[in-house]
Amino acid sequence: MRILFIGDIIGKPGRDVVGAELPRLRDVLKLDFAIANGENAAGGFGLTRATANDLFGAGVDCITTGNHWADQKEILSFISDEDRILRPKNYPAGTPGKGANLFVAREGQRILVVNVMGRVFMDPLDDPFAAVEAELAACPLGEGADAIVVDMHAEATSEKVGMGWYLDGRATAVVGTHTHVPTADARILPGGTAYITDVGMTGPRGGVIGVKRELAIEAMTTKMPIRFEVSTEDPWLQGVLITASDQPLRATAIEQILEPAPGIV
Ligand SMILES: [Fe+2]
Ligand SMILES: [Fe+2]
Repeated sequence: MRILFIGDIIGKPGRDVVGAELPRLRDVLKLDFAIANGENAAGGFGLTRATANDLFGAGVDCITTGNHWADQKEILSFISDEDRILRPKNYPAGTPGKGANLFVAREGQRILVVNVMGRVFMDPLDDPFAAVEAELAACPLGEGADAIVVDMHAEATSEKVGMGWYLDGRATAVVGTHTHVPTADARILPGGTAYITDVGMTGPRGGVIGVKRELAIEAMTTKMPIRFEVSTEDPWLQGVLITASDQPLRATAIEQILEPAPGIV
């Protein structure tokens, strides 16, 4: 089973890269399933119906999110009826939307995707470890699901590494998102879980984690409120390809995809 996870898609430049590259990648990489973090897909902030449809149209099967999931209020009108979009599960009870869903991949494999958010240097939500535990208890690997992918959206590397070890052997993959900078620690943990601390972002590397660099630097140097805009310079596709075997159920490879996409934007 071959699963592509695409790092945080930044605004139109990121959506354009996905639109240009994913149909080809689905074919070339023989993908069974494609997941993308879309929390910054609409102008850098949140997700709208139209931007989500752009991503689904390009071949994304499931969109995960993070702390920016509700930046566009429009999402509140459709997330409850849209099973392909997840928001972090460990938001308070009653928050619209869901944090996990069981999908059917290309050849009928059942794939559980879980989205949680860390609490270190972020909003103090409910315990992400307990939130994932509840999902795994309801749908264990090998029983309820043929593959389980967890998007751990978090700032602190320690919290993400901890989640990887916590789920080793119980999830197919634990991938970190949110920092928009890919890390160099992709590996298969001893129990068979593919792990990376951050997948990176799909968007303009010429900015500051997606924002026009002159605006980001102005905000940092003046400490005045600055309205951020998405950079269009140097768009890249950043993600990981996870390969998993059917028997025994374990990840066999995790490979970073870090590709410049010149001429897309
Ligand atoms: Fe992000
Ligand atoms: Fe984030």
